[in-house]
Amino acid sequence: MRIEISSNNPLEHATPALVVGCFEDERGQLFQECDAALGGCLGRLAETREITGKPGTTRLLYTLGKIPAERLLLVGLGKKTELTRERLRQAAGHAMQALRAARAASFATALPLASSLPRATESIAVGTLLGSYSFDLYKTKDIEQHFAFDAMTLLVPQPEQGQAGSIAEQAAQLCRGVCLARDLVSHPGNVVTPGYLAQEARRLAARHALECKVYEQDDLESLGMNALLGVGKGAAEPPRLIVVRYRGDGAKGRPVVLVGKGITFDSGGISIKPGPGMEEMKTDMAGAAAVLGTLEAAALLQLPVDLVGVIPTAENMPDGKAFKPGDVLASLSGTTIEITNTDAEGRLILCDALHFAQKFKPAAMIDLATLTGACVVALGHEASAVLGNDQRLVDALKKSGDETGERLWQLPLWDEYGEGMKSDIADLKNAGSRDGGTIKAAWFLKQFVGETRWAHLDIAGTAWSDKARPYSPKGATGVGVRLLIEYLRQK
Ligand code: BES
Ligand code: MN
Ligand code: ZN
Repeated sequence: MRIEISSNNPLEHATPALVVGCFEDERGQLFQECDAALGGCLGRLAETREITGKPGTTRLLYTLGKIPAERLLLVGLGKKTELTRERLRQAAGHAMQALRAARAASFATALPLASSLPRATESIAVGTLLGSYSFDLYKTKDIEQHFAFDAMTLLVPQPEQGQAGSIAEQAAQLCRGVCLARDLVSHPGNVVTPGYLAQEARRLAARHALECKVYEQDDLESLGMNALLGVGKGAAEPPRLIVVRYRGDGAKGRPVVLVGKGITFDSGGISIKPGPGMEEMKTDMAGAAAVLGTLEAAALLQLPVDLVGVIPTAENMPDGKAFKPGDVLASLSGTTIEITNTDAEGRLILCDALHFAQKFKPAAMIDLATLTGACVVALGHEASAVLGNDQRLVDALKKSGDETGERLWQLPLWDEYGEGMKSDIADLKNAGSRDGGTIKAAWFLKQFVGETRWAHLDIAGTAWSDKARPYSPKGATGVGVRLLIEYLRQK
């Protein structure tokens, strides 16, 4: 969808639909002007409580020639004093759902840009662009039902036009990263395989002249990445380790390293998962998708950062050749691991990647992984878990989470949680008892990060949504990209 900027007066702007914000506790100036132009129609609707301004509400009206806009879409913004960036993103997203239902492919938005114009413009653009996302590549029937947005015009006062344009452009670049992540997670597991992720990384690198190296199976063997290799053993397609580096102009100091879990399908392996819901395990590469999406956005935005993406990728399958419970793997770090559950595969591919990543001497290392079902039990779908060995890093990430609406909740990482992770035969077991599962998994990862400042994000509950959200349709959310870009901007 294109974004255009115009300084037309909303009441004089011709468009299939004009989006106007409406507060719960106050009638804004534009609302009153629209009301007057429509002969008091809005006031009447407000009196009868057919429009309330409550967040999440929308109301579409035909203007029947009274103003050049064919339709007026009123969007609830809640109380004026409670207007946050997330509220604006959500309001813009709700507007998209109403516009989609009305099949209005082009529209103009005149939401209030009052308090801070740049932030409001950013929020509206992000809510709009992400709210317009849909994934129907694999649908071949009822094509006429398909609908894609064409263009949005952001109506802003004349003096702000230039600034609004560049902010909208940046929002579009950010959303390209988010949508890349969403697409990768949405594609089925027979398309997105370890080889596909490697190819996608090469394409990304080619688009932006980034460094890219893919370690193939024999490379992994010579390196000794036996934990990653072990997980991939049951699959027809071999595992890989993907490294992509973006060195932005003006980047100072050591790189930030992002590590993303890239299990393109998690059947559980020999410790096979129950059938119902197993299809959702195509999303087990959402961490990898977030890393690629973040690199895409960082490169488009030309952020002045040195950013390395490290993606261990494999398919976790049962087979005669598959790794199995009781096996012992010698990880890249030398630490030996007894496999007690082949379904605890994420930490295995990550432990080799985290150890490997230390060669970049990271200023900070952040991993993202759909790592534990326990995380979904603990936090549901409203927050990702964050754990780490450096409180400043964790706090900075939490702050970015609050700013972007990709919220994080910290869990503790005390040594005692590791007591059940010791093995009788090897140094560690890959799985302990179910209690405190998210923390135990993070404790396991911690054994492989050395002295590096590190944070782990468990996105098991947030990478995929079973219900539509205001600016994220049902399915892949692209979680992590906006959070990490915000972190990199503030760093
Ligand atoms: N990929 C799963 C975790 C997951 C569950 C992600 C639900 C998204 C939604 C992970 O590999 C896994 O299977 N974890 C096990 C660990 C256990 C065997 C210690 C789990 O959570 O059950
Ligand atoms: Mn698993
Ligand atoms: Zn998994």
